[in-house]
Amino acid sequence: MFSKNKNDKINQQLDMERIPNHVAIIMDGNGRWAQKRHLPRVAGHKQGMQTVKEVTIAASELGIKVLSLYAFSTENWKRPSSEVSYLMQLPVRFFSTFVPDLVKHNVKVTVMGDITRLPESTQQAVRDAMADTANCDGMILNFALNYGSRDELTQAAQKLAEDVKSGSLDITDITETTFSNYLMSAQLGEYADPDLLIRTSGEERISNFMLWQIAYSELEFVSEHWPDFNAKSLENAIIAYQGRHRRFGGLKNQ
Ligand code: FPP
Repeated sequence: MFSKNKNDKINQQLDMERIPNHVAIIMDGNGRWAQKRHLPRVAGHKQGMQTVKEVTIAASELGIKVLSLYAFSTENWKRPSSEVSYLMQLPVRFFSTFVPDLVKHNVKVTVMGDITRLPESTQQAVRDAMADTANCDGMILNFALNYGSRDELTQAAQKLAEDVKSGSLDITDITETTFSNYLMSAQLGEYADPDLLIRTSGEERISNFMLWQIAYSELEFVSEHWPDFNAKSLENAIIAYQGRHRRFGGLKNQ
């Protein structure tokens, strides 16, 4: 059954045999969610953290292998310092209450981005969460923290150039696979490339997120603000994904 319009997909069933391996989410709309309720913007981030908990458990129960969440971009430093400070405290709060649930659900935490620029307490919370979940072998919860795709690509180019200069890499060995291995997503192995990228809040932009890795991802832009997104919204996005025909540049029936 194929949808004729966006609402039809709500009536479709989720196919548990075709769950995307890697789902990436640009969690947008926290500020607008708060402003609509006459609350400070940070109230939206606080509620957004609860959504992260719900969606993480839902994704793990659906059998998703990797859930990548864009939590703080290299551009987010431009925000007022009070908001940046609040966002920096969120991982501390999140992991201090949620690591036991992550372990219970066999979820392993990984991070993409330069965390050395984050406050010491945030770095420590992230490192502890990664250590505490290191032996989990279920879903990977991959946080993008102080992450920007252009920064990632630039750093990869620098490392490649260094390796060529030192003689450990030959220019003719630079293939797409080699290049991928220099990216921050290399730790995700065979699941480094998202199958489905979701952005909430109705904005239809990529905002410097996993530019290399989303070359063939299906994109789903949903109108809900991130704090309103939930397990059902995730299922609906996956149902929409399952209605697509991924061709990877080939033909439909190949
Ligand atoms: C975008 O909404 C959201 C962010 C920049 C921060 C995302 C962070 C969370 C959802 C919490 C993350 C939790 C953990 C555990 C790290 P916005 O502020 O740009 O919203 P707006 O576009 O409506 O202003």
